[in-house]
Amino acid sequence: MISAYRRDGFVKVRGLLSRDEALRYREAALAAAGRAAGPAQQAAFDQHVNVWTHDEVLRELSLLPRLAAAAEALAGVPLRLWHDHVLIKRVERNTPTQFHQDQPYWPHIDAGRALSAWIALGDVPPERGCMTFIAGSHAHTDLPPQDLDDRDSLFRLCPELRWEPRVAVPLEAGDCTFHHCRTAHQATANITEEPRVGFVVAFMDAHARFSGGRHPVTLPLGLERGAALDGPRFPQAGAAHAARRRTP
Ligand code: NI
Repeated sequence: MISAYRRDGFVKVRGLLSRDEALRYREAALAAAGRAAGPAQQAAFDQHVNVWTHDEVLRELSLLPRLAAAAEALAGVPLRLWHDHVLIKRVERNTPTQFHQDQPYWPHIDAGRALSAWIALGDVPPERGCMTFIAGSHAHTDLPPQDLDDRDSLFRLCPELRWEPRVAVPLEAGDCTFHHCRTAHQATANITEEPRVGFVVAFMDAHARFSGGRHPVTLPLGLERGAALDGPRFPQAGAAHAARRRTP
């Protein structure tokens, strides 16, 4: 799995959570989404960022030791939590999220191993907005941000990627994918009669610093360019792992 991840930029892990665990977190994610005053609405999905800071149940998931351990094994370096988010594709939202890399959106310096876990809180067949990746696309560095609502945005920057195979990865409840921060990915439209509930935990290199870029997670923190992204807002993945192991 580690070598497939390093080669392709993504990997699927079956049963990271049991179905029961996934459905419990799903309930919490839908409740958190219901409580939120105004989710950041994109054309293709609703997102709720950093729910771990105010939801006890979802905090458990974002700090889950087995999740952090898998992420660190894949990345091969110590990591910190960057942020989490609930991504819901509602039933009437039959718009795909277009191909993009995550890294150009992230205000990071020295975070070349950053990655995201995309966890299915419910079954996500291709018809319900499953993740689709372009293998090897993480080799493309230094691209500007690509528009999530423009299907040609990435391909204008990298025309050769248009002709690469696109790998759709359907997930059952509790399965997840991990993708490198530069792996191009999209989520298909949800044309089913059930909302698609995904939970993403994004990790960054433990030594990542702030680039000065605008991002909703760092905006309220008033950081100087070059500041370390550490402290309780960005808990170390390994530390969470160790703390949990000490608990009887
Ligand atoms: Ni993304």
